[in-house]
Amino acid sequence: MVNPKGVRRGTRYMFAKDFKKHGIEPLSTYYRIYKRGDIVDIKANGAFQKGMPFKAYQGKTGRVFNVTKHAVGVVVNKRVRQRVLHKHLNIRIEHIKPSKCRQDFLDRVKANDVKRREAKAQGLSVDLKRKPVEPRKGHLIETSEDYTPQLLAPVKFEIIA
Ligand SMILES: *[C@@H]1O[C@H](CO)[C@@H](O)[C@H](O)[C@H]1NC(C)=O
Repeated sequence: MVNPKGVRRGTRYMFAKDFKKHGIEPLSTYYRIYKRGDIVDIKANGAFQKGMPFKAYQGKTGRVFNVTKHAVGVVVNKRVRQRVLHKHLNIRIEHIKPSKCRQDFLDRVKANDVKRREAKAQGLSVDLKRKPVEPRKGHLIETSEDYTPQLLAPVKFEIIA
């Protein structure tokens, strides 16, 4: 039986490098600039054993609270049963990347500002609320000529003995 206790137990595939992503680490990993307050995604890089996050944080997103030479401090929300703990982790930069989770929102803020300014210039009011996709509109369909429409109604409830 395998050793069931190690800190990296069960991470053989989790920490493995992706297909065709083996080899030397690109320098872009090291040239990225992280600042406090940045939102980052945690994804362990199996080629670097130092400063690795614990496997429970794989795929989690957190906020940078400290920056050091090779690593950043990331605060992550970890749910443990009924409570949420704010875990402070020190992770080397090989294991993190900037998160895109806020980009949509920031883009929308910008687009909305533009829309609002345009509306104001024309003296109109503008509705910037996002709406869920509505049900499809009614429309005509084509059938063959000998087809007569049938009216469908629910079958009346009956007890089967
Ligand atoms: C940031 O990390 C350094 C190095 O580990 C440590 O000395 C410092 O106290 C940390 N700062 C904060 C705000 O945690």
